[in-house]
Amino acid sequence: MASERSVKLDRASQQWLNDWSTLVEEYRRIKESHRKLKLMLDDYAKHPTRIGKQLKDLKNSRARVSGTSFAESAEHLTQLDQMEKDLLEIRATLPKPNHIILQIVLGDLNVQMRNEKEKFAYKEQYEVFKLRVTIITCFLAISCFLFPSRTLDAVLHFLFVWYYCTVTIREHILRANGSRIKGWWLMHHYFSTIISGLLLVWPDDDLNAAFRPTFISFSMYMGLTQFIQAYYQRSFLIKRETLMGSRGRDISTDGVRVKTLSDLRFLIPFLFGAYIFQFYNAYVLITLWQYTPSATFHVVSCGVLFAIVGTGNLATTLMVLWTKYKQTKKA
Ligand code: COA
Repeated sequence: MASERSVKLDRASQQWLNDWSTLVEEYRRIKESHRKLKLMLDDYAKHPTRIGKQLKDLKNSRARVSGTSFAESAEHLTQLDQMEKDLLEIRATLPKPNHIILQIVLGDLNVQMRNEKEKFAYKEQYEVFKLRVTIITCFLAISCFLFPSRTLDAVLHFLFVWYYCTVTIREHILRANGSRIKGWWLMHHYFSTIISGLLLVWPDDDLNAAFRPTFISFSMYMGLTQFIQAYYQRSFLIKRETLMGSRGRDISTDGVRVKTLSDLRFLIPFLFGAYIFQFYNAYVLITLWQYTPSATFHVVSCGVLFAIVGTGNLATTLMVLWTKYKQTKKA
């Protein structure tokens, strides 16, 4: 009986010893891969400097080879072009210092995403966020229209201030991750934050009451336009995802990102309507300011800002349409 127990114990000890050696092996593997990873990360940190130096060397090499006449110089130049292109692409994926706005808001946090899947998911969240807040602001603007109240107005203006600040930070993060959002759309959101802030602190005077119906109507119209705009952007994200297959696959292919002029047919009239509305707001505010000696600075400031925003939006959208027109003609 005693010997049977000792055999059993021996078997148990043997089993334990086997498991133990597996554990030790795995522990060593983890330590070794961690050591290699640390070395690689140190090496990775030197990448931007190395790439910068190599680009400079390639430039010098190009200048030198251009002055020679040996037979393979054209072949070398083609190779040089490709190398430069590849290095620039690699550099675009490396972590960069944050934009000053992100630096102020988030500090020295690395906002670079690890792969295209994460970038795509973040862009999707950004569009969903815009859509959700647009729906809320639309309902709020309708409530302000139906039940005029200074408190409701303040909530609406405050929501706009918060929304534009948040959306601008998200757009900076998107840009840091390779999004081609034009600088103006970010500027537009800065200006919109200031306009909303001014409207929030505008005293409850006669001019405020006079401009209020125009602004509430404008907010409802903008809500509708932004809704269509969000639908346009979302439909492209879905198309991009479908075209590239399952979520795990690379979705950075540029061809899938190109949107043509015909895709915009439905949205364009609404956008131009929004710009006309912005110019109209500017006109109303500046006229009120001109003919009212007691007008506070909020009136003229908002008027000028609406004029700037309308002009910038119109110019940028025309530029985008022109680029798309040229792309459509070329295709
Ligand atoms: N806000 C945020 N991102 C925008 C944007 C905007 N207004 N317009 C374009 N982008 C993004 C696109 O999603 C794309 O991102 P990606 O590189 O991450 O894929 C990138 O910028 C390049 O887009 P582009 O191809 O130049 O334009 P588009 O086809 O996506 O959109 C318009 C073209 C005209 C529909 C769009 O610029 C737009 O809606 N403009 C009007 C904005 C406006 O006036 N707003 C105020 C009134 S509602």
